[in-house]
Amino acid sequence: MEIRSTTQAPPDTGADTIVVGVFEGEGVAHDTDDGALARLLDSGEARPRFRHLAHTHAGGRRWILAGLGARDAFDPERARIAAAVALGRAREMDARVLCWELPHHVTNEHAGALVEGTLLAAYAYSAWKSEPPDATGPEELVVSAHHDVGAAADAARVGAEAANAARDLANAPANEMTPERLSARARELADRHPSLSLEVMDRAAIEEAGMGAFAAVARGSDAEPQLITLSHDPGDVAGPALGIVGKAVTFDTGGYSIKPAARMHEMKFDMSGGAAVLEATGAIAALGLPVRAVSVVGATENMVSGHAMRPGDIVRARSGVTIEINNTDAEGRLVLADCLTHAIERGAERLVDMATLTGGIVTTFGPVHAGLMGNDDAWCDAVLAAGEATGERLWRLPLDPLYADMVKGRYADIMNAVEGRKAHSITAAEFLHRFAGDVPWAHLDIAGVSDDAGRPYAAKGASGWGVRLLLELARTSGGAPDMH
Ligand code: BES
Ligand code: MN
Ligand code: ZN
Repeated sequence: MEIRSTTQAPPDTGADTIVVGVFEGEGVAHDTDDGALARLLDSGEARPRFRHLAHTHAGGRRWILAGLGARDAFDPERARIAAAVALGRAREMDARVLCWELPHHVTNEHAGALVEGTLLAAYAYSAWKSEPPDATGPEELVVSAHHDVGAAADAARVGAEAANAARDLANAPANEMTPERLSARARELADRHPSLSLEVMDRAAIEEAGMGAFAAVARGSDAEPQLITLSHDPGDVAGPALGIVGKAVTFDTGGYSIKPAARMHEMKFDMSGGAAVLEATGAIAALGLPVRAVSVVGATENMVSGHAMRPGDIVRARSGVTIEINNTDAEGRLVLADCLTHAIERGAERLVDMATLTGGIVTTFGPVHAGLMGNDDAWCDAVLAAGEATGERLWRLPLDPLYADMVKGRYADIMNAVEGRKAHSITAAEFLHRFAGDVPWAHLDIAGVSDDAGRPYAAKGASGWGVRLLLELARTSGGAPDMH
């Protein structure tokens, strides 16, 4: 979908369908010549209740009146939802050029949010469908405002398109979306943006580097693992380098601690964190954000074979820490352990990792919040703020030396799974904590939001969750003075 912003009045934009928002206790700011919008409101057919929709025809166009609820409750997240709901109606009506009239006295973030909500809601994964979908949706979205909102609309477009690109990676089946396909995507991004550089380590390089934890997971798979490092260096910027780490297990069978068959197919989404990291890094480059970033994606399958790791195996991570693998299904933390070490070695001074790490976080938060755990309050607050700004909300869970004690090993330094899954989202974080050390670090467990974010603009299937959050974090933490 093309995005255009303009200071033209909606009827002058060439749109065939125009959306006008209505707040509680307010009328419409600009009616049609024949007063059709006021009539629609007076009749009670249109209502200001949030998410309510009504439509009419006037001046050879369709007009949708979209209820926006109370003005002071109308945050950017509500704008995303209103845009998604309005798009649904516009699509049913076969709109080709859709125009949103930006409500008066809202911020540029609201304008961006209308763009995001529309683009995210318009997403469909149809790569493997032989027949084209019935309703294709509009070709163009126009945002009409009294002032120039072009910069906000454009930044929003870049972020939403990156999220949709991450959804394409995650929705693709695991026979197609192999670790090598992910590194090929990283190569495309690096070729497109001169500020990005790419380095890929294959199985031999991973083993050679002493990354025994990552290598153990990859051992069961015939697919070549890829440790992807995509670095963003815009040159001449101050501020700490951001380390962005993503879990990209392209398929998680569980290994010998095998998963039940019923829902194993969902484990193609186990690379969602890595997909978000790649596409967010591409968007950081596309927007030319003044921040140095080193993005590290650990891509491998977790399979069963004569080469696979066994429960009880002991491996040594690159950091030197030894790990008892008492559950081969707790593979994400093994991959991330070596990726965190690698990011620190490449100069990361602030770490954020994103991973579909535990079923426990799905049980705890469902599709509403992702779990946040970290070792630094100021850094966690920065991550929380980025979540609030983007609607990709987080809830922080505690770390504690007593939880760290629970991952202590019997035969080795630590073990990768705790008996009885006690506190298992948190103990997974304590496992990672060993590898982040004292570097400010935030771990985002996205297992509950990655394949259904429960929002009208990102329901079933890959949600692209985290791309916009990472972009916002890069925007707000880059070049900023030290937190402490
Ligand atoms: N990829 C899974 C976590 C997951 C579960 C993601 C459900 C999305 C939906 C992860 O590798 C895993 O298997 N975790 C185990 C850890 C356990 C063995 C300690 C889990 O959560 O059961
Ligand atoms: Mn697993
Ligand atoms: Zn997994």
